Amino acid sequence: MHVLSGIQPTGRFHWGNYFGAIRQYIRLQDEAEDAFYFIANLHALTTVRNPAELRQLTYDAAVDLLALGLNPDKATLFIQSDVPEVSELCWLLMTGTPMGLLERCHAYKDKKARGLAADAGLFAYPVLQAADILAYDADTVPVGEDQVQHIEVCRDLAASFNHHFGPTFVLPKAKLLDTSARVPGTDGEKMSKSYNNTLEVFEDPKVLRKKIMRIVTDSRPVEEPKEPETDHLFQLYSLFADDAQREAMAAKYRRGGFGYAEVKKELADMAEQYFAEARRRRKEIEGRPEYVRQVLGDGAAKARRKAKEVLRRAQQACGVKL
Ligand code: ADP
Ligand code: TRP
Repeated sequence: MHVLSGIQPTGRFHWGNYFGAIRQYIRLQDEAEDAFYFIANLHALTTVRNPAELRQLTYDAAVDLLALGLNPDKATLFIQSDVPEVSELCWLLMTGTPMGLLERCHAYKDKKARGLAADAGLFAYPVLQAADILAYDADTVPVGEDQVQHIEVCRDLAASFNHHFGPTFVLPKAKLLDTSARVPGTDGEKMSKSYNNTLEVFEDPKVLRKKIMRIVTDSRPVEEPKEPETDHLFQLYSLFADDAQREAMAAKYRRGGFGYAEVKKELADMAEQYFAEARRRRKEIEGRPEYVRQVLGDGAAKARRKAKEVLRRAQQACGVKL
C-alpha cells in the first residue's frame, strides 16, 4: 500500500481534523509500505492571501503533525510547493482536462452558484490535486467524504492520459476515513473553521476550557432524563472517553438529575489530559525550528526524487522530452 494525503494549512487544527483525519493518517504510517503526507500550501493559496499568515500556518501545521505523532522515520512529511515537479505535471494533465469535468466540481460550482467570482486557481484545484497524487505513484488516498469527487477526477485524468499516451500513471483509490468520527462543533453543527464553532487541539488550555463551557446545550431542567445518542456534548465527550466512562455517562444522561456544566467540566479535564503529551511534545519541537526544517527538507528531497521519476515518465509518454 502506497499512501498519500494532503492537508491544507488554512487554520489551526481542530478536534474534527484530528479525529476525522490526522489520527488516521498517523495510524496508517505503521501499515503502509510508504506514506507521503504533505501540507497543501499551493491549494491554501486559493483562500489564504496573506503571506505572513500562510507561512505561519504552514509551519504550525508541520509542528502540530509532528507533535501529534507523525513519525518522520515512518512517513515522509513535506510542503507541497517544495516539489515543483508537481506543478509541471499539473500542466501536462491540464492539457487533457475537459472543462466540463471541472465545472462539475463542488468548490467551483458552489462558489459560482453563490454568485461569487471564482479564479482559475479554484477552477483548476482538482487538477493540481490529481498531480499531487499521481506524482508519487500513490495507490491509496485517505480522505474525508468531501474529497471523494477529487479522487474520481484524478482517476479520470490518469486513465485518459494512460489511454492516449500509454501506461504511465497508477490509478489511485480513495480510502474513506471513518465517518462515524464526524465531530460536532460548539453549536452542534459539523465542526468546521468556516462555521466558527471549532475547538482547537493546541488552543491555550484556559481559553479552551472557556469555549467548552460555552458549548450550546438545551435548557431542559436538571432533573429531566436526557437522550445521550443525539446530544452533541455527549458525542464530544465520547471522543475522549473509554467504553466504561461512556457507558457511565450515558446512564447518567438517561437517569437525569445532573447539569450540562458538570459534563462540560469533565470534558475539559479529559481533553486536557488526552492532548497533554502532544502539547508537551509540541513545546519541545517548537523550540527546535532547525529540527522542523530538517524534517521538511529531508521529506521534500525524498518526495522530489519520486516525483522527478514520475514526471520524466509522463514527459516521455506525451512527447515533451526529446
Ligand atoms: P474545515 O471544515 O474546518 O475547513 P478541512 O476541510 O480543512 O476543515 O478538513 C480537513 C479534513 O479534516 C477533512 O477532509 C476531513 O477529513 C476532516 N474533518 C474536518 N472537519 C471534520 C469534522 N467535523 N468531523 C470529522 N472530520 C473532519
Ligand atoms: N483538497 C484536500 C483538502 O482540502 C487537500 C489535498 C490537496 C489533498 N492535495 C491532495 C488530499 C492530494 C489528498 C490528496 O482536504
